[in-house]
Amino acid sequence: MRHFLDLKDFSTDTLQSILDKGLRMKVTQKSGDGHELPLSGKTVAMIFEKPSTRTRVSFEVGITQLGGTPLVLSASDLQIGRGESIEDTARVLSRYVNAIVIRCYKHETLLTLAKHSSVPVINALTNWSHPCQLMADLMTMIEYHGPLAGQTVAWLGDGNNVAVSWIEAAVRFGFHLRIAGPQRYAPPAGLLAWARANGGDIMLTDDVSLAIDKVQTVVTDVWVSMGADEGSRRKDFAPYQVNAKLMKSAASDAIFMHCLPARRGMEVTAEVIDGPQSAVFDEAENRLHAQKAIMAWCVSGN
Ligand code: CP
Ligand code: NVA
Repeated sequence: MRHFLDLKDFSTDTLQSILDKGLRMKVTQKSGDGHELPLSGKTVAMIFEKPSTRTRVSFEVGITQLGGTPLVLSASDLQIGRGESIEDTARVLSRYVNAIVIRCYKHETLLTLAKHSSVPVINALTNWSHPCQLMADLMTMIEYHGPLAGQTVAWLGDGNNVAVSWIEAAVRFGFHLRIAGPQRYAPPAGLLAWARANGGDIMLTDDVSLAIDKVQTVVTDVWVSMGADEGSRRKDFAPYQVNAKLMKSAASDAIFMHCLPARRGMEVTAEVIDGPQSAVFDEAENRLHAQKAIMAWCVSGN
C-alpha cells in the first residue's frame, strides 16, 4: 500500500523521483500540453479536521487536473464527529474511493486511518508533521538553487509540525539545517536523535545570528499553530522574527520561505515577505504540482 505519511518513510531516490515528476508536471501544466491522467475514473476523498486554504484547494484542483474526482469532507460532517471509529471510517471509505487525504489533529488518527485503509492515505498535516508542504518547499529550493544536497537552510521560530518535516527532509536530501528558537520550543528530542543517527547535519541554537549566517534559504512559520495555545509565544519568539536586517546576514541570493498563512509583523515583516527575496507564492503554487506527483505515485505507482 503506497501511503504518504512522513518523509522519513521513504528513500531519497523515491522522494527525488516524486520531486522530479512534480517539476515536470508543472512544466506540462504551464505549457498547456495537457496532463497525463493517472486519476482518470478515480475518486479521492479529503477529510479536514482543521481549516485549510492551500491544501484543500491545491489538492482539489490537482485531483481534477489528473482526471479524478475530489470529494471534500469536513470531519464535523462525518459520523466520526459523532464518535464513529476512525477504523470503520477507513474501511468504509476504502470501499468507495481510490485514495484518502487527511488533515487532522492527532498524528495517531492518520496512522490508524492508514492502518485500516485499503487505499492510499496522504498526510495533509497533523500536529506532528506536514510532508506535502515540504515536497513543495523542496521543489522551490531546487527551482531557485539547484540540487538539494549541500544547501544550507535556517529555520527560525517554533519547532512545530513543519519543522519536523524539515528535519526529515534534511536527513533524506543531505542539506544542512540550522534551527534557531527558544529552547523550550525545540523540535522533539527523539526526532533530533533519529536525524543525527541517520547522518543529518542539524544545528540547534537559540542564537539567530549563528543560524542565519550566509544561508541560502530562510524559513519560518506562525508562532501559534492551529490547536496550540498562544501563552507567552509572542514574547518568546520576538527575537526570531525574520526582518530585513536579519536577511542581510543570509547569502545575497537567499530566498525567504513560509508555508503560509503568515502573520505580517509577527514571525516575518511585510518588507521581507512582500520583498524581492520572498518565494512564498512559488512555494504555495508548488503545493499543486508536488501533490499531483505524490498522488500519481500513491495511486498509479509512478
Ligand atoms: N500551508 C498550508 O498547509 O496552508 P493551508 O493551511 O491553507 O492548507
Ligand atoms: N504550523 C502551522 C502550519 C499551517 C499550514 C499549523 O499547524 O497551524
